[in-house]
Amino acid sequence: MKSVILSLAVALTSARCAFSVAVWGQCGGVNYTGDTVCDSGSACVVLNDFYSQCIPGATATTSSTTTTRPTSTTTSTAPSSSICSGSRTAFKHFGVSESGAEFGNGKIPGVLGTDYTWPSPSSVDYFMSAGFNTFRIPFLMERISPPSTGGMTGPFDQTYLNGLKTIVSYITGKGGYAAIDPHNYMIFNGQTISSTSTFQAWWKALASQFVNDSHVIFDLQNEPHDIPAQTVFQLMQAGVNGVRSSGATSQMIWVEGTSWTGAWTWTSSGNGDAFGAIKDPNNNLAIEMHQYLDSDGSGTSGTCVSSTIGAERLQNATAWLKAHNLKGVLGEIGAGSNTACIQAVQGALCEMQQSGVWLGALWWAAGPWWGDYFQSIEPPNGPAISQILPQALKPFLPVA
Ligand SMILES: *[C@@H]1O[C@H](CO)[C@@H](O)[C@H](O)[C@H]1NC(C)=O
Ligand SMILES: *[C@@H]1O[C@H](CO)[C@@H](O)[C@H](O)[C@H]1NC(C)=O
Ligand SMILES: *[C@@H]1O[C@H](CO)[C@@H](O)[C@H](O)[C@H]1NC(C)=O
Repeated sequence: MKSVILSLAVALTSARCAFSVAVWGQCGGVNYTGDTVCDSGSACVVLNDFYSQCIPGATATTSSTTTTRPTSTTTSTAPSSSICSGSRTAFKHFGVSESGAEFGNGKIPGVLGTDYTWPSPSSVDYFMSAGFNTFRIPFLMERISPPSTGGMTGPFDQTYLNGLKTIVSYITGKGGYAAIDPHNYMIFNGQTISSTSTFQAWWKALASQFVNDSHVIFDLQNEPHDIPAQTVFQLMQAGVNGVRSSGATSQMIWVEGTSWTGAWTWTSSGNGDAFGAIKDPNNNLAIEMHQYLDSDGSGTSGTCVSSTIGAERLQNATAWLKAHNLKGVLGEIGAGSNTACIQAVQGALCEMQQSGVWLGALWWAAGPWWGDYFQSIEPPNGPAISQILPQALKPFLPVA
């Protein structure tokens, strides 16, 4: 299936050779087979070995060592290879959260199409054809395990479960990865989840629904907070054990820590002390952290602290991952569409690829209902599409 898609993509790309590449589009890089001539007014600039881009007003370059800063008159600043030098490890997982099924969390169960929605297949298509491969699918535990029929120990709501399965199969059927994300902050039906055995059994039951799809990723819980790190660790370890006991042994598991799983507070929150002991019998686990670049790290402001804040906020977590011989995934990153933020995101992704301990990153967020939220990257014209996508994310393709 995958090889059919790939050879078809190559055939389509080579058949399009009469066209030139639009401004900000890719025009070169290792294994790139598309067009290399840019639309007039722009030139093909080598940003790194993997990615050359059509930049308005630039002088064409042929090697990363001779890249010149573009003389663009727009407010956007193009990435320069100088911000990300040295050897880098390609991401294994790079993409977006596809938000929507967790909307309307005050409305349980809520009405599909009114209170919540499933992601759009066309949005998945858009990112996959751009070269991204991983999609995180937030959903609500109270909708899949309704409190009215037994909650976490009762049966799944088949309609909502089928909605989740439909978008997951759509993604994995195209060769992508789908991270299923109970977006509950470790709170179920108003109560903080505290029973490791209940959490373990719930994950065993849910993972058994996806046991045959190796491209599903189990993201055990979104952003626990106001719970001691050691307690969250024990719940996450129970979740890992539950997933594996379902027979789902080939899939990756992502675990999150307390304090909204922030990378910048990973050690100060206690997560660093607790999570070094996490064990996966199948040895296929990553620590998922989140990082925003505004002053309080919440992703609610489009103003970044500085153009270097991305790399700075990840440094301690990167050192911790290395020290514990663990891999990380930045499950949420987001920032505004302005020069400082674009550079800050580039710096974060650069630091991650240089470190070799980060498997990937996901932008927060795509999804059909974000409207004009500044971080929305939903095609065709979410606010992050025009600058963040080409300048801050695409230079860090391809995925391995
Ligand atoms: C380029 O293609 C070759 C052959 O398929 C592959 O081995 C290599 O990993 C690819 N390089 C990149 C950066 O994708
Ligand atoms: C997984 O595959 C096995 C063997 O084909 C099958 O019996 C089982 O029902 C499948 N499980 C799911 C959830 O599709
Ligand atoms: C990370 O933070 C911890 C605790 O604050 C500190 O002990 C450690 O030295 C820091 N590591 C790095 C690499 O900055």
